[in-house]
Amino acid sequence: MNKIAVSILNCDFGNLNSEIEMINRSDATWFHLDIMDGVFVPNISFGFPLIQAIKSKAEKPLDVHLMIASPDRYIKDFKAAGADWLTVHYEACTHLHRTVQNIRQEGMKAGVALNPHTPVSFLEDIVADLDLVLLMSVNPGFGGQTFIENTYEKAAHLCEIIERKGSKALIQVDGGVDTNNIEKLAKAGINIFVAGSFIFRATNSIQTIKKLAHETPMKR
Ligand code: DX5
Ligand code: ZN
Repeated sequence: MNKIAVSILNCDFGNLNSEIEMINRSDATWFHLDIMDGVFVPNISFGFPLIQAIKSKAEKPLDVHLMIASPDRYIKDFKAAGADWLTVHYEACTHLHRTVQNIRQEGMKAGVALNPHTPVSFLEDIVADLDLVLLMSVNPGFGGQTFIENTYEKAAHLCEIIERKGSKALIQVDGGVDTNNIEKLAKAGINIFVAGSFIFRATNSIQTIKKLAHETPMKR
């Protein structure tokens, strides 16, 4: 079964309770929460009150994807709000090793996200300290964008680095994931798939999550 992290960015926020219940009942593995600050990315999403509200109802881990400048300032706050996994962008962290240590010290799993233009080789010296690497398969900031094909090659290269460095990091892909590309991504070594608009645009979100989850077996 593929691990699906449901991005709520394009859910119906007017009916948040039922959207949370739908995800609780579904085959999804995690809730994926996209935090955008209007500085690192050209969009603003939501902050701590909403994360807390989701945490109080969610029966699955919260995977929080920070698209914000200087994420170090808020690590404790995201822990307090209920984050289980906290992913920061490589491009937003001058002292990435310290940031990763701080996330782990707070008792969260640490992830690093790479924008589409950032080579996976930039993670060679830190991948052994990571719990997750997130490959952006669209430019961060918005849901509903077109998947970037170069992601397959990046995933395969990252797998090779992870194995060579003896890292236990999981590989996550985020952006434009649907039933057309999930199988090929799984074969390229992706472990966790973020999906948003493909799920919330569907008439039956539960069935759509099921379809994504059972499309193909995991490679590792
Ligand atoms: C984009 C976000 C994604 C986004 C994915 O910046 O990080 O998590 O919500 O949504 P879809 O599946 O619509 O590309
Ligand atoms: Zn995301």
